[in-house]
Amino acid sequence: MNQPLLEAINLSRTYKLAKGSAGKGKAFRHALIEMNLSINTGDRIGIVGESGSGKTTLVRLLLGLDTPTSGSVEFKGQALISGKMPWLRKDVQIVFQDPRSSLDPRMKISEIIREPLVCLGIDEDHDARIDEVLDSVGLERAMRDRYPHELSGGQRQRVAIARALAPRPGVLIADEPVSALDVLVRDQILELIAQLTDKLGLTLILVSHDLSVIARLCNRVIVMKDGAVVESGNTREVFDRPAHEFTRALIGAIPRLPESL
Ligand SMILES: Nc1ncnc2c1ncn2[C@@H]1O[C@H](COP(=O)(O)OP(=O)(O)O)[C@@H](O)[C@H]1O
Ligand SMILES: [Mg+2]
Repeated sequence: MNQPLLEAINLSRTYKLAKGSAGKGKAFRHALIEMNLSINTGDRIGIVGESGSGKTTLVRLLLGLDTPTSGSVEFKGQALISGKMPWLRKDVQIVFQDPRSSLDPRMKISEIIREPLVCLGIDEDHDARIDEVLDSVGLERAMRDRYPHELSGGQRQRVAIARALAPRPGVLIADEPVSALDVLVRDQILELIAQLTDKLGLTLILVSHDLSVIARLCNRVIVMKDGAVVESGNTREVFDRPAHEFTRALIGAIPRLPESL
């Protein structure tokens, strides 16, 4: 049986907006509309779409951080119930867009990385594991005692990656992992994610509004617009023969094709 690792089945999420925020009466935002997506072990899947297309909504549902309005998410064939699946929280980890807001400013780096190990009850020497993941993201062990504000943006994102990898997940989700960073460090962080994905054999779900970022790291791509998939397939093929006008526009916005495709 070839069961997908992670599956979205007719997944929808509608947000109720506060009265008056969009005209009279109750307003709704259909952030995700009947989405179907199947992710296999070892996939490197890119999710691309303009701002507001529903990418983060999808990711939160895949992680069980949010409950769908209708439809479901299955992990290894088991329906996911939000907040109730600690084993899923160990297996699927996320790196968010902005490490300034995703890292607690009052915690030392070692405590930030230790937190998931404690919360998930991981039975190994936490201090040794913290050193190990610091090494693997290219940070000196002396960083353990620093606070996030003492680090550069790129270093902070390395800490976020270290924290995500500490519990040894099989799946790494990265939601716009470089869009809050200086242009100069973006490449280094993408390279690090690529290296770690290879080395650890991770299944990667990479979200970006930038198709060139996806092209560099992912073999499959899903193009989203207004809460729905408008196109999907092998990254190279989508690049070479974009079927949808919107995908052509995204490709047109890239100065030149990345060479590592
Ligand atoms: N908590 C929320 N309440 C109301 N609307 C929301 C909420 N979160 C997201 N949205 C709306 O849902 C749509 C999709 O948002 P999001 O998934 O964040 O898109 P993306 O990550 O692609 O930029 C947008 O129109 C956004 O304004
Ligand atoms: Mg988003």
